[in-house]
Amino acid sequence: MAKEIKTIGILTSGGDAQGMNAAIRAAARTAMNRGVNVKGIMQGFSGLLKNEIVDLSAVSVGNIIHHGGTVLYTARCPEFIDPDPDKAAAAIAKAAEMAKLHGIDGLVVIGGDGSWKGAQKLSKHGINVVGVPGTIDLDIACSDYTIGFDSAVNIALEAVIRLRDTSGSHYRCSVVEVMGRHCGEIALWAGLCGGADAILIPEEPETSNLENILQVIKANRARGKKHNIIVVSEGIGHSQELAKEIEKATGIESRATILGHVQRGGIPTAVDIKHATMMGSLAVDLLLEGKNNRVIAYRDAKYVDYDIDEALAMKRRPSFDIEKVNRLVSTYH
Ligand code: ADP
Ligand code: F6P
Repeated sequence: MAKEIKTIGILTSGGDAQGMNAAIRAAARTAMNRGVNVKGIMQGFSGLLKNEIVDLSAVSVGNIIHHGGTVLYTARCPEFIDPDPDKAAAAIAKAAEMAKLHGIDGLVVIGGDGSWKGAQKLSKHGINVVGVPGTIDLDIACSDYTIGFDSAVNIALEAVIRLRDTSGSHYRCSVVEVMGRHCGEIALWAGLCGGADAILIPEEPETSNLENILQVIKANRARGKKHNIIVVSEGIGHSQELAKEIEKATGIESRATILGHVQRGGIPTAVDIKHATMMGSLAVDLLLEGKNNRVIAYRDAKYVDYDIDEALAMKRRPSFDIEKVNRLVSTYH
């Protein structure tokens, strides 16, 4: 028989992402409306280890839906990934004990696939867990969407648009580095929508071939273009060096701008609030159905759930088509 869930815990883990608060609110309110107690765990898995666990009420999750950041705070919890497997196992066992001490029998983990691995391990200690994809990176194989991506990519796009003005005024080349860790999606979207000359992503290391980039810049200048935008994913990096190399090889004044954490702040877009609300609520539905070791995903325009082990084993499919389209539209001869 499915375990009856009386108290759920909610935590946010890994890098913060716009929309995490909307997911917290949705999960908390869904549980409360079904008569379930709700606890907020501060600073991700670290809050379990440090016993920083608070009662949440309908009021305490009020007025957060449009706020960036996360009211539960977030952290990367090094104890869970201690290189000594015995120490890591002990930390996970202790975290599960702390959860049980607070009566938490179901846990919503809002974070990326790293956080889902922590959740997966907690589930082996008798805590029912459901993961919600929360990361700006759009790097989770099982889901076509991760909460925060749309907000982050629109910030990156706005930066590209602003840089087009200033680099055009000075006849310069702008190299813009965006976040994404090992994933090029933010770069692909910001580059495509920003009309970039070239987009460099870690999934396609050949996109960072200097000769090819110089060829595109020169071709575009030859047809009268007054500025160039090269969008670089952080998984490629070296933007400052690239700007110097472009300047040296072409004589075109070049500047690098690394956008950094600005991409993670501010009001979430409607897309993020909508997905966060649907996914946060669905996570609680699953827990109350007695499900365990599951994750929520958005796949083919539907909200679905997968077993965590199955989800983590999937291979991500980057949007290579977007890159191909950009190659066709960003240069003409
Ligand atoms: P994200 O959740 O955004 O992918 P991280 O990869 O930094 O971010 O993971 C966040 C946290 O999840 C880590 O600091 C750690 O506490 C936990 N975690 C990551 N990988 C594992 C793992 N293999 N086993 C247990 N916990 C993990
Ligand atoms: O996962 C989100 C993310 O912003 C990545 O894009 C980036 O690589 C990383 O987190 C930065 O981490 P930190 O906030 O610890 O510098």
